[in-house]
Amino acid sequence: MLQHQPFGQSHPGTGKTATVHAVVKELKRRAEDGEIAPFSYVEINGLKIPSPAHAYSVLWEEISGQRGTSAKTALRGLEAHFGRKSGVRGPRSNTYVVLMDELDQLLTAKQDVVYNFFNWPTMRDSQLFVIAIANRMDLPQHLAASQPAQQINHSSRPVNSSPP
Ligand SMILES: Nc1ncnc2c1ncn2[C@@H]1O[C@H](COP(=O)(O)OP(=O)(O)OP(=O)(O)O)[C@@H](O)[C@H]1O
Ligand SMILES: [Mg+2]
Repeated sequence: MLQHQPFGQSHPGTGKTATVHAVVKELKRRAEDGEIAPFSYVEINGLKIPSPAHAYSVLWEEISGQRGTSAKTALRGLEAHFGRKSGVRGPRSNTYVVLMDELDQLLTAKQDVVYNFFNWPTMRDSQLFVIAIANRMDLPQHLAASQPAQQINHSSRPVNSSPP
């Protein structure tokens, strides 16, 4: 399936979200037809959650099945989940595809939320795929400036789309 963490950036209203939705719909169809492994799709929209750290709760609730977890508890759960040695992570069939839309809104002073979400997919056998969408065209450079370049961004593949 997705081999990298695609990272889309372009101006508002150019069809970024619509494009990802169309791709995910097609992937879901293929999964239903047995062409690819089944996966859970999780959408995290920076404009729709109360704080950047709430992104942890959204993903952890999907993985754990728990509801109403605090960001702190969720982060602990995610760190334990993805920090584990591969093979003991649980049922191998659980693949998660996460769309982080309006990523600009998820930036924090420490960039910890974005850093973690870009880092976990790089853990061996994480079975986590993160697609990020931002409006800010200089976001990869901005992130690289605030995190050591080798820590973040090393498996991300920027996809720029120009306004029509
Ligand atoms: N290829 C397309 N064909 C038809 N309609 C499209 C296409 N791409 C985008 N649209 C429509 O254009 C509108 C804007 O698209 P979309 O919401 O995906 O933009 P966006 O780049 O995510 O914008 P924003 O940065 O504001 O989130 C939507 O109503 C969407 O349905
Ligand atoms: Mg959008």
